[in-house]
Amino acid sequence: MQRTVSGDVVVDCLLGPADERSLADDVLDGLTRPFKELPPKHFYDTRGAELFDRICELPEYYPTRAERAILEAHSDDIVARTGAAELVELGSGTAAKTRLLLRAMDDAGTLRRYVPLDVTEEMIRRTASELVEEHPGLVVHGIVGDFERHLPYVPAPEDGPRVVAFLGGTVGNFPPGTRRRLLRAIGRLLRPGQDWLLLGTDLVKDPEVLEAAYDDGPGITAEFNRNLLCVVNRELDADFDVGAFEHVAFFDREREWIEMRLRACRRMRVRVGALGLDVEFAPREELRTEISAKFTPERLAGDLTAAGLALGDVLTDPDGLFALSLSTPRRAVAAA
Ligand code: SAH
Ligand code: TRP
Repeated sequence: MQRTVSGDVVVDCLLGPADERSLADDVLDGLTRPFKELPPKHFYDTRGAELFDRICELPEYYPTRAERAILEAHSDDIVARTGAAELVELGSGTAAKTRLLLRAMDDAGTLRRYVPLDVTEEMIRRTASELVEEHPGLVVHGIVGDFERHLPYVPAPEDGPRVVAFLGGTVGNFPPGTRRRLLRAIGRLLRPGQDWLLLGTDLVKDPEVLEAAYDDGPGITAEFNRNLLCVVNRELDADFDVGAFEHVAFFDREREWIEMRLRACRRMRVRVGALGLDVEFAPREELRTEISAKFTPERLAGDLTAAGLALGDVLTDPDGLFALSLSTPRRAVAAA
């Protein structure tokens, strides 16, 4: 681990050359399966993060606006209910919505430390320096890492209640089993009777509304999806003909999740130089790049219960599109 300290900002960097490894492992694994698949965390290089910001501003992509509306209406209540002194945020990105919570904590006089964790180093550093400017006295302890592997590196809680925020519906990007395991690992960051999970989940709704959110008119989401292949080309010396892949997004009505895929327009052979690997694509063969699960109250409660958490308040926006929930650990969770 590499730590840099400057003023009120500490940044721990847990990703290094080994993480090209993680991409290499995921590509080797995912592209040699009977149904090709790559995990979504590799979307977010600098260009991917920029495209994601543009997605959040699209009229079709309602989750960001809906979650922001909930935070605008309820941040003060959340802070009053939890007494939050410390905010840990997983997949913090640009922390745009998080600022509403930090502001409410500051106004309540409880704000002490913010611990953002994200795979994208630039965003961690930029957000950290902006926030210590905006909130004199705030300590930001950023972690450049992977929340699937690096939760044990989140610093021990300080005095006062901790809230762990996992916003944007990112938890829905994991299939059900992995999602419950991840929630259980997150639960280990929480002290029973003291700390809280603040979880953002997108809700099941009209499939047309859902599908439009992941297949916008101007094609920004399509560009974001294809950018994954640019990442593989650059990092692993591959030769994907990126333009020869078509963006596919549909709502799986049985599983109640959105699936994003990339469909090869023609037969292709792709060379992944760094792995010495040749991958064949049949015409119209698809590569799955993301799922985004949509929640019912039952699914939310079921996942949290299975992870050792108890669901408390559930807040929604006026249109009932998105949910923000507070939950607490049910008992001391045994160490891993
Ligand atoms: N929380 C923000 C961003 C959501 S996009 C919002 O609500 O708008 C998902 C974010 O999670 C991105 O910033 C991405 O870089 C980060 N991310 C995705 N997978 C990750 C992983 N495995 N570990 C850490 N961060 C991850
Ligand atoms: N967590 C977000 C979601 O599932 C991530 C996301 C939004 C996303 N739009 C996307 C990921 C488009 C890939 C492509 O809604």
